[in-house]
Amino acid sequence: MDKFIIEGGRRLCGEVEIQSAKNAVLPLLAASILTDERVIIHRCPRIRDVLNMIEILCELGCKTSFEGETLVIDSADAANHEIPSALAKELRSSVFMLGSVIARFGKARIAYPGGCDIGLRPVDLHLKGLKSLNVSIAEEGGYINCACDRLIGTDILLDCPSVGATENIILASVKGEGVTVIRNAAKEPEICDLQNFLNRMGAKVSGCGTSTVRVEGVKKLHGVEYTPIPDRIEAGTFLIAAAMCGGEVALKRASADNIAALIHKLREISCKITVKNDKIYIKSGSARKSLRMIETMPYPGFPTDLQAPVTALACISEGSTVIVENLFETRFKHVPELIRMGADITVRGRAAFVRGVPVLHGADVVAGDLRGGAALTLAALSAEGMSTVTDLSHIDRGYSEFEYKLSALGAKIRRIRV
Ligand code: EPZ
Repeated sequence: MDKFIIEGGRRLCGEVEIQSAKNAVLPLLAASILTDERVIIHRCPRIRDVLNMIEILCELGCKTSFEGETLVIDSADAANHEIPSALAKELRSSVFMLGSVIARFGKARIAYPGGCDIGLRPVDLHLKGLKSLNVSIAEEGGYINCACDRLIGTDILLDCPSVGATENIILASVKGEGVTVIRNAAKEPEICDLQNFLNRMGAKVSGCGTSTVRVEGVKKLHGVEYTPIPDRIEAGTFLIAAAMCGGEVALKRASADNIAALIHKLREISCKITVKNDKIYIKSGSARKSLRMIETMPYPGFPTDLQAPVTALACISEGSTVIVENLFETRFKHVPELIRMGADITVRGRAAFVRGVPVLHGADVVAGDLRGGAALTLAALSAEGMSTVTDLSHIDRGYSEFEYKLSALGAKIRRIRV
């Protein structure tokens, strides 16, 4: 198990290039089996969720090559419709494979998906959507078995704007018969990226980014070369790091529009943020006014994936901050670890009440999930003294070269294997 050793208290200065979005790349990989022609994805981040997804594609019979940041997928010989449980449990986005595997093979078998332990993470909306498309589904022994001889387009209303369910229904219906309309669809930028990718393959998807998505089924999809959008959550993580440590940081290849909710908050606490083309500049001093209130919401609201990092920021901001996590039931696992660093936080259900302290002190802390691990790393970077952050397997799921990028900005952080 790896851990970070961090000497806190150093300002961050310099430029960091943002990776392609984990939550865009994963559904694109699922979409790659909708054609038997070659798919090339440029600037593909070498993170564990992507590597696991590539393993799943190989289990289905795809041939892949991953040189540098260029991933080539050839699914001409794909013939297996079963996703092995060991891999399905590794990551949540394995469930996105359902729609595209059914569309390719007319059947699919997958173990219930895993992912961060941040809540129940049901897949009822995914299954309800697929059933509406004429897929028969049998759940038994921890497996989901799907079969369908004809995917037939229809109108689907989602009970809540689920990102994964929206993506799964799009993937299942792009080669279905007729038109599918998804109402109350999620509006995340990663879904727009999936729409662009599929339309470059010859699909007819429209409306992504709004709450009504329309898919007109087509007979065939062809190969594509594509560069995914930048990772707005990684970008937000680095902006919060700069706000916590002080300094001047430029994010290269970042879209400010996709994290407007965070940028608005950081400006409120007196960070100087300017945007020029695809660069975001942040200048932060030691003063951090109170964040007052953060409520996580579906896009374009404040992203749940930045809740843990912004909770760390609230720990050293003036006054009190109330943080409400509306999307996931247990996404406060980073709180006890922050308290070990001197934070003053009380959690009641889905709300965390944070009273700011001047500075945190170093401690040995353990990451419990992907974004919580990032939050603890940021807290250690801003703290006085030495810290360790253990169990980097979570961070490695979603942040490529995290410690190298932070070191290049002046942080004293290194990884050791224990
Ligand atoms: C995606 O997860 C992201 N993962 C998550 O990022 C992100 O936190 C989440 O969207 C919300 O933005 C990927 O894209 C791979 P949801 P997903 O379905 O699709 C409920 C990260 O850190 N729900 O939008 O699983 C669910 O319980 C990860 O990068 C149902 O009730 O999220 C939750 O309360 C963590 N039934 C809400 O919807 C369902 O069938 C949002 O979940 C599906 C979801």
